[in-house]
Amino acid sequence: MQTMKKMIAEKILGGVKEINPAAELTAEEIVSMLEYPPTLDMGDLAFPCFKLSRTLRRAPVQIAAALADCVKCECISKVESVSGYLNLTISPAYLANNVLPEILEKKEKYGAQTFGAGKKVVLDYSSPNVAKPFHIGHLGTTVIGHSLRRLHEFAGYDCFGINYLGDWGTQFGKLIVAYRKWGSREAVEEGGIDKLVELYVRINNAIKGDEANGIPADNALAEESRAEFHKLEMGDEENIALWKWFVAISLEEYNKTYKQLGIEFDSYNGESFYTDKMPAQVEKLREQNLLKLDDGASIVDLSEYNMPPCLILKRDGSTLYPTRDIAAAVYRKENYHFDKCIYVTSAQQCLHFAQWFKVVEMMGYPWYDELVHVPYGTVSLNGEKLATRTGNVVLLKDLFRLAIEKVSGIIDEKTPDLENKAEVAEAVGVGAIVFYYLTNNRMKDINFVMEEALSFDGNTGPYVQYTYARACSVLSRAGEAANAPITVTTDEEAALLKTLCRFGERVCSAIADYEPSHITRFILDIATAFNRFYHNCPILTAEDEAVRASRIRMTEATKIVLGNAFDLICLKKTEKI
Ligand code: ARG
Repeated sequence: MQTMKKMIAEKILGGVKEINPAAELTAEEIVSMLEYPPTLDMGDLAFPCFKLSRTLRRAPVQIAAALADCVKCECISKVESVSGYLNLTISPAYLANNVLPEILEKKEKYGAQTFGAGKKVVLDYSSPNVAKPFHIGHLGTTVIGHSLRRLHEFAGYDCFGINYLGDWGTQFGKLIVAYRKWGSREAVEEGGIDKLVELYVRINNAIKGDEANGIPADNALAEESRAEFHKLEMGDEENIALWKWFVAISLEEYNKTYKQLGIEFDSYNGESFYTDKMPAQVEKLREQNLLKLDDGASIVDLSEYNMPPCLILKRDGSTLYPTRDIAAAVYRKENYHFDKCIYVTSAQQCLHFAQWFKVVEMMGYPWYDELVHVPYGTVSLNGEKLATRTGNVVLLKDLFRLAIEKVSGIIDEKTPDLENKAEVAEAVGVGAIVFYYLTNNRMKDINFVMEEALSFDGNTGPYVQYTYARACSVLSRAGEAANAPITVTTDEEAALLKTLCRFGERVCSAIADYEPSHITRFILDIATAFNRFYHNCPILTAEDEAVRASRIRMTEATKIVLGNAFDLICLKKTEKI
């Protein structure tokens, strides 16, 4: 579609120059003015001529009439000028001779872009907090983050994915105390991360107490935890060993989930990695006179920018979340030389990012505007806030397990002889959750309802994966397609190809808006168009040899584009379901 739009824009530009040779307008500007009409009878593309009224000093209707003749080109079979709009219909011959061959030739490269070539993107995503449960609240950063990575790779960027593990902080003091008090090596070895979470929840509850039930807060335990964390910071051998062990256990657990999703990271340097990199930045802030003392704490005043101050050091001199992020950004710029560093977190952290991005700017780092925060809406569960302490969370591993079990049940019932049952059940079960999550615009708040996530009716992951498998099944039965010229004979065929050729555009808009849902919706568009084609146009039983061969090729093209799009949102390509 991008190629077609360019061709059309050149023609329109030619027409404009005929009317007014001095008109200042570029083909790119015209491309951005082209619209998709709301209904098919209005054509496939529309050019709103009122946008040129000022430049050409004419009424839209006159402009449309004047341009109608000029836009005729290879890819357009019909031009109509209707109330100041030019409505254009894409030529079936062009779809047959250009669009389809291009897809078949480029295969897994179809839709790929080149604008990222030679540029580097660092993506900071997933980043769970060690020994805290990995739950549905982390699904967003994990799947949006990874999808953005795939999208950028598809546009030619060199990508570097960082799992910035929350592997440092007072929670480790608590965990160490809880472990020594209530845990044992055997129990943790056996229970893994669940045991760690249990210990963590238990000590938190004890520290906080339960006012309603007359249980007082346990300040001694809080004090003890702080002391143990301090020992950890000072390099106490025993505590360091425990901490490393807790991190390893957690990571092992996360990796199971990442594996199910097909996600790998280039670096797992978490917060602890930056401990020794903070003093230099704090020093720099001090030298630049940016640090102010506020009730003993060191802050950067941001009132000029209508933001609360950014906290750099606590009263006891210990560092904070923003301090670490600043040090990490400097380290990443110096070591990975990014052109863009993307952080994917819940929208609750918007202020945090706005604050420390501003501090980086005030420190004079010229790359401050290469830092990008990509927030997403909050997840609640059954209408309530997620809370580890009260257990109002769903662990990702449980969610995936339930989805996989459900799919297994369906397979056992419907296709009991399917090969690789377990593999397919995992791909479709996990895919259902991913697709459910990525269908919405990322900023939309999500009230997670298990039944909805596990519902396979309508516009769901299983539906699109099933469509993919349907295309594969047609192809496996088709054998070699005859080498006949391609023909587009029905509306369904034309509609399918017109949908497929919009892929490149969707890739661009998904990157520009940091919005994987553009791809998810596009996948649904293809599934609809393909299923309509499949039901209305006989493929293998088509009588005419050329029609049969063309339809097989269209099926092949659908498989290619769907597959490429699946890759962009961590959806596995299921050949058979
Ligand atoms: N660990 C943090 C959390 O779970 C997310 C980290 C996001 N990345 C960052 N560079 N701050 O809230």
